[in-house]
Amino acid sequence: MAVKLTPLDVMNDAPVIPVIVLNDVAHAVALARALVAGGIRMLEVTLRTPVALACIEAIAREVPDAVPGAGTVRSASDAQAAAFAGARFAVSPGYTHSVGKTCHELGLPLLPGVATGGEIMAAQEDGYTELKFFPAMQAGGAAMLKAWQGPFGDVKFCPTGGVTAANAGDLLALSNVACVGGSWLTPADLIARGDWAAITQLAREAASFKR
Ligand code: 3PG
Repeated sequence: MAVKLTPLDVMNDAPVIPVIVLNDVAHAVALARALVAGGIRMLEVTLRTPVALACIEAIAREVPDAVPGAGTVRSASDAQAAAFAGARFAVSPGYTHSVGKTCHELGLPLLPGVATGGEIMAAQEDGYTELKFFPAMQAGGAAMLKAWQGPFGDVKFCPTGGVTAANAGDLLALSNVACVGGSWLTPADLIARGDWAAITQLAREAASFKR
């Protein structure tokens, strides 16, 4: 039985959580192994494709050093399906009480997405203090995170959306940023041609970011 994680465990494991879109279940295991080889174990597989749950299942079954999670969790039923497939954490693009309550009931660590003070307060009311800031760069980036350090000094964020290797350092330098998320570690073209060595290299660079 896998050890149960907290949201902070998920955020603290590495400086970057890759946001993964998989279109072919045959790529899942090789991709997970490539990321793990580069030092990235927390893998957010987005529920945006018909094969996403099968990919989570395959990673959970065949890559013991990886920790598969589900991204784009938008409903209670998404959370239930993700947990059933073997996801060990969930990430949502926004926050609803229903998703928050369901993840509590499932014991599934959730990083809820927020972009405003009201959303932070709603998530905090339900016991969530480790949050995804989404879409981070479009919604204010580092300046917004600095503004939140005053009223929401007890919250840790994972900014995601528009984050790249070029701007991750500025975000990771902030005291209220635990890690960042982004899709740049797993570009569609590298996945399509099975260039796992290039993905391991991107992961290695990301794993070495200072925070
Ligand atoms: C997403 O949910 O798509 C993530 O925020 C990834 O955004 P990015 O592609 O800008 O990294």
